[in-house]
Amino acid sequence: MDETQRFITENKQRFLDELIELLKIPSVSADPAYNQDVLNTAEKVAEFLNSAGADNVEVCETNGYPVVYGEKIIDPSLPTVLVYGHYDVQPADPLELWESGPFEPVIKKTEIHPEGAIFARGSADDKGQFFMHVKAFEAMNKSGQLPCNIKFMIEGEEEVGSNSLGEFVRNNKEKLKNDIILISDTEIISNDQPSISVGLRGLSYVEVEVKGADLDMHSGVYGGAVPNPINVLSRMIAKLHDDDGKITIPGFYDDVEELSETDRAEMAKIPFSLENYKKSIGIADIQGEKGYSTIERASIRPTLDVNGIWGGYTGKGAKTVIASHAYAKISMRLVPHQDPEKITQLFVDYFPTLAPSSVEVTVKPHHGGHGYVLPTSDKGFQAAKKAMTHTFGKEALPTRGGGSIPIVALFEKELGSKSVLMGFGLNSDVIHSPNENFGLFNFYKGIETIPYFFKYYVEG
Ligand code: BES
Ligand code: MN
Ligand code: MN
Repeated sequence: MDETQRFITENKQRFLDELIELLKIPSVSADPAYNQDVLNTAEKVAEFLNSAGADNVEVCETNGYPVVYGEKIIDPSLPTVLVYGHYDVQPADPLELWESGPFEPVIKKTEIHPEGAIFARGSADDKGQFFMHVKAFEAMNKSGQLPCNIKFMIEGEEEVGSNSLGEFVRNNKEKLKNDIILISDTEIISNDQPSISVGLRGLSYVEVEVKGADLDMHSGVYGGAVPNPINVLSRMIAKLHDDDGKITIPGFYDDVEELSETDRAEMAKIPFSLENYKKSIGIADIQGEKGYSTIERASIRPTLDVNGIWGGYTGKGAKTVIASHAYAKISMRLVPHQDPEKITQLFVDYFPTLAPSSVEVTVKPHHGGHGYVLPTSDKGFQAAKKAMTHTFGKEALPTRGGGSIPIVALFEKELGSKSVLMGFGLNSDVIHSPNENFGLFNFYKGIETIPYFFKYYVEG
């Protein structure tokens, strides 16, 4: 590994400069205005794979944004690691809350990152993280120390639900064939405490509409006598949780796996400061499902949250009006064994029953996905643990992540492969928020660690 590590040390600045180039392209998959930028990013990723030494690099068409593929097959009898990541990013808004432009990367020192962090949309989620793999591969390849085969599959629709990826995977099973999937799109506990995510939550996402009258009305002339869809929607949403923070949809918890006391005791050992947690996001107190810790609530328990709510007058000043419509977008984070389609159906059946007869309710399902768990006995987990423990000098712990990467469960179903979630981000990277950033320590630690994953996986 020495040659590989030397190559990394000698090329550190170039790796960072290249990442900056990638971060400058606004690859926002959700907004059609950025269509050309997303496509340009795919081309850029292909260029980087080529210059790193990958073979058969291809920008593969799909029904949506392309998947960038590349590979290095050194010996078909050796194992193959498939690296998955995404080059698309979340929308940058609200723009006014960014201290520097979301697509004008800058490096700044922070309290957590005394050696600097790179501020830009996508720096941690996921451009900075998948790029670590491209660079680690380049280092292994150019120093002649790639110990097995590698394939890259970098997609452009993760942030909008990976809609085209299912079909791509089903149509390309042979091409994507692998022994293990390696993904850096999650977090570690802290820069002093490495960890590997062994779980992801699933997702069911719906949009609801409540319709009252056919038109917006004067709130004095009609108010009090007619349904106000915004009032009604608020009451309906309030009824989705009981006083213990449990979700009231009948059947919602039927398939939820309760962790054993031993597993919960293990989780309780994860270093966690409630004070720091509250301080870091500026809340006076926490809240959530009765009987569970904060870490449990944010990882092994299912949730229901309104992500957006609108209707009526939201402009400047005051307008006295009763709107005809009210809307909300609602996400339910699911845990392994909960089926997103079943949960969506439970919601579709239940939500309208909360409404008075004076309104019409429509529920529109969006994307969803299954949760995931990787047993810690898995060879891939063991290799990641050894690699991180080696480079951090501290034993890496398993954690369960609260976010979702729906394609991971699909990989298991379609390709029969497990995924190892060896991410290097931090909670404080504020992915999806203004001022997203990725520590230089984390970027370089990732590049340093990945070759050890390969080494230990092949040896294991
Ligand atoms: N990288 C995240 C998922 C993530 C973040 C997992 C932190 C664990 C810890 C990913 O890009 C993401 O944002 N996923 C979406 C899924 C959705 C768009 C289908 C999510 O979790 O909201
Ligand atoms: Mn991501
Ligand atoms: Mn994301």
